Amino acid sequence: MKSVTCTAPVNIAVVKYWGKRDENLVLPLNSSVSVTLSQDQLRAKTTICACEHFTENKIWLNGREDTFESPRIQNLLKEVKNRAKQQGDGGKILDWKIHICSENNFPTAAGLASSAAGYACLAFTLARLYRLEGDISDIARRGSGSACRSVHGGFVVWDKGDKDDGTDSISRQIAPHTHWPDLHVLILVVSDKKKHIGSSEGMQTTVRSSELMLERVRQVPKRVDLISNAILSKDFDSFATHTMKESNQLHAVCLDTYPPISYLTDVSRQVITLVHAYNKYCGQNKVAYTFDAGPNACLYLLEENVAMVTALIKYLFPPEDVSEHFVTGLPVDEAKVPEDFISTLNLPIQQGAIKYMIHTVPGDGPQVLTDNDECLLNENGDPNYLVPEKRKIDCVS
Ligand code: PMV
Repeated sequence: MKSVTCTAPVNIAVVKYWGKRDENLVLPLNSSVSVTLSQDQLRAKTTICACEHFTENKIWLNGREDTFESPRIQNLLKEVKNRAKQQGDGGKILDWKIHICSENNFPTAAGLASSAAGYACLAFTLARLYRLEGDISDIARRGSGSACRSVHGGFVVWDKGDKDDGTDSISRQIAPHTHWPDLHVLILVVSDKKKHIGSSEGMQTTVRSSELMLERVRQVPKRVDLISNAILSKDFDSFATHTMKESNQLHAVCLDTYPPISYLTDVSRQVITLVHAYNKYCGQNKVAYTFDAGPNACLYLLEENVAMVTALIKYLFPPEDVSEHFVTGLPVDEAKVPEDFISTLNLPIQQGAIKYMIHTVPGDGPQVLTDNDECLLNENGDPNYLVPEKRKIDCVS
């Protein structure tokens, strides 16, 4: 039996990927830019075992058995094996069945971008198992587009590429996470039970129906340049302006989709109003928001502003249960909200509208874990941990 365990990070785009030019190869209509987040707060962890005695391929996700036949997994696995065969180094293990066990260190129900970390981790772990050489971002891309960027740490560009076979649609690091040490991230997890339209379906409808999308695709290359330059020169003001404009454009394109898609909620819009009001009060950009295919806000800000922005969020969205940990991740100092700012802010206080916040920083790319204790599968290739199945009576009631 051969076993490999790896971890991979979440990334949050500042120039968004939205729309494919090839559904099968997962080729995007535009390039995108992202920041990889620290795995201390948000990461996927995957163990893969290959054994000549396994009788079938199996997968467990977050403690539950799942289907191995998903087209994304099949697509990704096929590409890894093809490449291993081309490189001629896979050996007989390529014919063995595999068991995959994967889990996140954050609640999947929180609606955070878990697919990027999950598929990047799957691609990276398979690549280690079959001893693949070279770039694997195009393999991760087959699972989920945004996973293409999670195979690198720091600041990452996914070039859309022009070739029909997708060989030039790969990601590259433009700066390591250590490049901008005082850039911090606050993720605001919005309490929201609504089921959102998945990104794949949303993108397809946008590409089919939105004329604004054509204009967006024309504009994105300029924005990729502007944001990349802002990152390289650590120009927070410019980084914030373009990050917010970009998020707004993505959600404008979603509204221009027919039928329209609205991922933002009243709470998201309140966060947007707060950020612009605070930046105006300070006379320059202190904080930037960005939203993916859901209502959760991701705020980028410099370390010196974390305490104040957290205090403002707590003031506007006080937690329902004060005993709960509202701010998770890195510690945050206390700060007093400025009275003169609050008095001009015409926003209602909405208790419990934000479930919790995660304080984190940019981080490194995928890692191999060599300690046996980290392995998620036991010596028989079964998971060490499974979520207890609900009793039948629960399902009936
Ligand atoms: O990777 P997918 O198919 O889940 O799409 C991700 C889309 C966005 O999160 C909205 C944007 C992005 O670039 O991550």
